[in-house]
Amino acid sequence: MNDFGSGHPFGGQGTQGSSASEIPPMFRPAASAGGPDRVSDPIPFRRPGSEEAADQRAELQEELHAADPAPVKSGAEKALVAEPVLGPTGRPMPELPEPRPISIHGNARVISMCNQKGGVGKTTTTINLGAALAEFGRKVLLVDFDPQGSLSVGLGMNPHDMELSIYNLLMQRDVTIDEVIVPTSVPGMDLLPSNIDLSAAEVQLVHEVAREQTLQRILQPVISQYDVILIDCQPSLGLLTVNALTAAHSVIVPLECEFFALRGVALLTETIEKVRERLNPELELDGILATMYDARTVHGREVLARVVQAFGPQVFHTVIGRTVRFPETTVAGEPITSYASASVGAAAYRQLAREVLVRCHAG
Ligand SMILES: Nc1ncnc2c1ncn2[C@@H]1O[C@H](COP(=O)(O)OP(=O)(O)O)[C@@H](O)[C@H]1O
Ligand SMILES: [Mg+2]
Repeated sequence: MNDFGSGHPFGGQGTQGSSASEIPPMFRPAASAGGPDRVSDPIPFRRPGSEEAADQRAELQEELHAADPAPVKSGAEKALVAEPVLGPTGRPMPELPEPRPISIHGNARVISMCNQKGGVGKTTTTINLGAALAEFGRKVLLVDFDPQGSLSVGLGMNPHDMELSIYNLLMQRDVTIDEVIVPTSVPGMDLLPSNIDLSAAEVQLVHEVAREQTLQRILQPVISQYDVILIDCQPSLGLLTVNALTAAHSVIVPLECEFFALRGVALLTETIEKVRERLNPELELDGILATMYDARTVHGREVLARVVQAFGPQVFHTVIGRTVRFPETTVAGEPITSYASASVGAAAYRQLAREVLVRCHAG
């Protein structure tokens, strides 16, 4: 047993936001030199040729070598010698190779999509990253671990019409995971659905032995069947989220590119740290994913620059733009990769899938 407060993991009741002092200022004061002061002024991203750009190139070279230790110079490396192409995060964009097909599946990498803030793109990222990974031939399981059941609805399921959901799996010992998993419209991608019943599980689990390891225990039998398992967390840092973090190898934190994006991130990283210390020493942060980015607004660019400033190399090179196609896909009950296969949004999630495969050694 651990020393968490009873009733709530880590005794954390106030999960929304954090103190203002923890949050680095979003915008430079008007007096600070070099900051954009007119709407038309570009964000002062670091430019190639400067000392910082040289550092960035070294960092990228390291990243590229970490991804592929082969001594052969890749196209991206050669391009770097001339002039690096800067991605939306202001850093040189690494080459993200076409994923190699795999013939043997299993030994799944379990990734939790986590942010206690709602509406930041957790569910959208789970569905579309999952679908893009499945397009690349990976076997994917999506776990709906939010009692709101948005992931299940987003994949065309009726929440009132579920014979078995993840709730039954968590609470009833005679239910097996194979009975609960359902296929989705995407070949190679399955779903462990949930509905409002899951909120009762959160209350009931409090009295269980090893309550934080429940999800880990129920996923164990299918680790050998999938390449990637993505867990869509609820917008809180409660017991369900702690279960998701305990069951995972790593975490992806989607951050909406808006003014309050960084609020609460300190509390989230603290929670991840505590789970790592007490429950899951292997837990890694795969990266911060900037979502709903609008490159046309100064605000959007400033927030993204701020996120990169705060988290540096932890920010994914892939940035998800804001587009109405995403809400449309929820209504359609399918991923953007099939609903609007040629759209910018679908391309963004395919690129994220490539980056995840390189960065997270998944699948
Ligand atoms: N890149 C995007 N551009 C525009 N709307 C988006 C984008 N990503 C998500 N949305 C919309 O924002 C809302 C919240 O997204 P969702 O993925 O459900 O967030 P969360 O799971 O973090 O609560 C949904 O209506 C979704 O369709
Ligand atoms: Mg959600």
